[in-house]
Amino acid sequence: MKYNFDKTVNRINNNSAKWNEMEKNFGKDDLLPMWIADMDFETAPEILEEMKNKLDQKIFGYVSRPDSYYQSAIDWSKKRYNYDIEPASIVHSPGVIPTISILLKNFAKDTDKIMIQTPVYPPFAGTVKNSNKTLVENKLIQDDNGNWKIDFKDFEDKAKDENLKWFILCNPHNPVGRVWKKEELKKIADICLKYDVRVISDEIWRDLVYKGHEFTAFASLSKEVENITITCFSATKTFNLAGLQASFAVFPRKDELDLFDSKLGALDIKRNNPFSLVAMEAAFNKGEEWLNELVEYLEGNVNFVIDYVEKNIPKVKIVKPEGTYLVWFDFRELNLSNEEISKALIKEGKVALNNGTSFGDVGSEFFRMNIACPRYMVQDAIKRVDKAVKALEKDLALI
Ligand SMILES: Cc1ncc(COP(=O)(O)O)c(C=O)c1O
Repeated sequence: MKYNFDKTVNRINNNSAKWNEMEKNFGKDDLLPMWIADMDFETAPEILEEMKNKLDQKIFGYVSRPDSYYQSAIDWSKKRYNYDIEPASIVHSPGVIPTISILLKNFAKDTDKIMIQTPVYPPFAGTVKNSNKTLVENKLIQDDNGNWKIDFKDFEDKAKDENLKWFILCNPHNPVGRVWKKEELKKIADICLKYDVRVISDEIWRDLVYKGHEFTAFASLSKEVENITITCFSATKTFNLAGLQASFAVFPRKDELDLFDSKLGALDIKRNNPFSLVAMEAAFNKGEEWLNELVEYLEGNVNFVIDYVEKNIPKVKIVKPEGTYLVWFDFRELNLSNEEISKALIKEGKVALNNGTSFGDVGSEFFRMNIACPRYMVQDAIKRVDKAVKALEKDLALI
């Protein structure tokens, strides 16, 4: 490998949310942090070089985004996903969640219902609630082998409701790790077209997909589908740049793009910072080799976790994610409450995982592990989970 993902980066002095906010979120700060979704890897040197060049300019005033900035995102989308984006339809936003939030507040009516597929990234439900709209859940289901699927019958039943106007798609899906297949996306699209439901497609995880799986941009399905879809993506998740706060939104309709842009303008958050400006463009233009190695390394981490769990913690179930760097642990076979499992992970295991209940009620007794860190940390983390489970099993044997 050309890039070293085994390198330890000390993030304690980095004001890192993942490493420095454990006391606040878990009540203890001596845990191994495997929660919030950023990576413990340095970003690609090709990106750092451009950021250093920007630093050397020694001026950080207001910046404007050149056409080449957008073109880099357009070229990447075309090259990797055969997704054609019209230059006039793409716009900057400080983040995917800010985009969704602005859309729901300004595009949806008060009577509109918004559908999400739980368990799902918590801010989806948060943005719906904050915009005072009605949340509708289409719960994901598992087949006999535990694989996560869409309950299309339920999806259609809910889409039929004339107040159901928006659906927020998460592709690839956080936390279950599905990279939705073209056929699944087509079924979603058919239902949304039939019942006049608009789609906000959050594709922030699109670049992190494992061998044997293929990402499809929802809007690339057809012109008709593109016309009902607002797509959100970024290089921030892919290249560990989330702190730079930048993303793209693609609008099929010019009046909507203009309205969205004016809302950003009204808040005066349209201009991005000089570092995200060069970092995003460098990522898309020069980051592919780094990304390919990253994905290979991440898959090695995922495989390690799965192998360890199968051999040593058989009551805990994991379905191998098809993408993302998130592993969704199912503790239901322990027959314990979510609270008991959470306590054991923190107190006995000393490991910080995201509590599944934050992804919706259906996430109870599930916990999410972020494996985007050097392999030795993943090895340490899974041993801590093992220790917590053994302690719980010992307690059960004593009862
Ligand atoms: C599905 C999904 N969307 C959006 C985000 C955050 O995006 P942003 O930082 O651009 O708001 C995350 C972060 O984990 C995510 O998992």
